[in-house]
Amino acid sequence: MRIIVVGASGLIGNIAFKEFSMDPAYDVFGTYFSQNTEGLLHLDMMDKKEVGEVMSEINPDIIFHPAANANAEYCESHPVETRKTNVDGSRNLIEAAKETGAKLVFFSSDYVFDGLDGPYSEEDAPNPINEYGRQKLEIENLIRNALSNYLIIRTTVVYGWELKGKNFVIQVIRNLSNNLKMNVANDQFGSPTYANNMVQIVKELVGLNKTGLYNVVGRDVMDRYSFAKKVTGVFGLNADLIAPTTTDKLGQKAKRPMKAGMKTTKVQNVVTTHILCVDDGLKEMKKEQMGGIS
Ligand SMILES: NC(=O)c1ccc[n+]([C@@H]2O[C@H](COP(=O)([O-])OP(=O)(O)OC[C@H]3O[C@@H](n4cnc5c(N)ncnc54)[C@H](OP(=O)(O)O)[C@@H]3O)[C@@H](O)[C@H]2O)c1
Repeated sequence: MRIIVVGASGLIGNIAFKEFSMDPAYDVFGTYFSQNTEGLLHLDMMDKKEVGEVMSEINPDIIFHPAANANAEYCESHPVETRKTNVDGSRNLIEAAKETGAKLVFFSSDYVFDGLDGPYSEEDAPNPINEYGRQKLEIENLIRNALSNYLIIRTTVVYGWELKGKNFVIQVIRNLSNNLKMNVANDQFGSPTYANNMVQIVKELVGLNKTGLYNVVGRDVMDRYSFAKKVTGVFGLNADLIAPTTTDKLGQKAKRPMKAGMKTTKVQNVVTTHILCVDDGLKEMKKEQMGGIS
């Protein structure tokens, strides 16, 4: 099986690139966009010509698509620019999947929901309340209308070691290690998800040749403040530096789905990979440790 991971320089893409590369059943190719990374090819998914050239050269069986501008705040203030990346770029990958016959594995989010009544199942009706969520839902619908051989993976609050160091757990580790205080919302609920565990589950879904929509998230639903406290416990950090606050005091531009998170019943009935709770996910992450986070 030939697989191309578009966005292999990002958090989820990099872990997926490594995970598939360890399995001799896959020939794995990966791409970067702005972070020139050894062993990866350049690909701008907004460039239809480049997408066509790369895809016809590789002729993939699977196009793994975690590529995005996934910053909800930036999407809110730059809707035109981020639509070009997220929606138009995805449209080019959808067309490439159609032309090559490859399976498309796309990463979406619980931000497709309004957050009034989570955690959500795959059957619940989306109703995005910010630009990032609207873009995600639009891409999901483009995929459903164009392809039959696809996986849409909805995930959320993903954490793990990554070069950019932008995810919440790394922010907590970095700030507290430098003795910096953090105000963290105790009214935003989600499902913290250990990236490596999520990628292993998605790989199993791919191996089982599953199609359609799956929530792939961690086992627990919890608020950000409680999650931050768990991080301090596992990583031995000073919990007194974390103060609870409410979302209205954070001055975020993009509205957040407050009672979000997702149910995992559907995927649990299909895969054998154990879905980790927050404590176990953080412990796994600690075991893995990665240098260079300061
Ligand atoms: N992380 C989460 O908590 C979370 C939650 C829910 C859903 N998701 C979704 O999961 C996916 C992956 O998230 P992530 O956290 O791994 O994102 P990430 O770390 O920001 O990585 C994004 C990747 O997309 C690439 N990219 C950006 N613009 C591109 C373009 N025009 N053409 C080709 N590649 C481009 C980036 O390349 P360069 O870095 O080289 O520029 C990077 O490799 C996203 O779709 C995100 O919306 C993530």
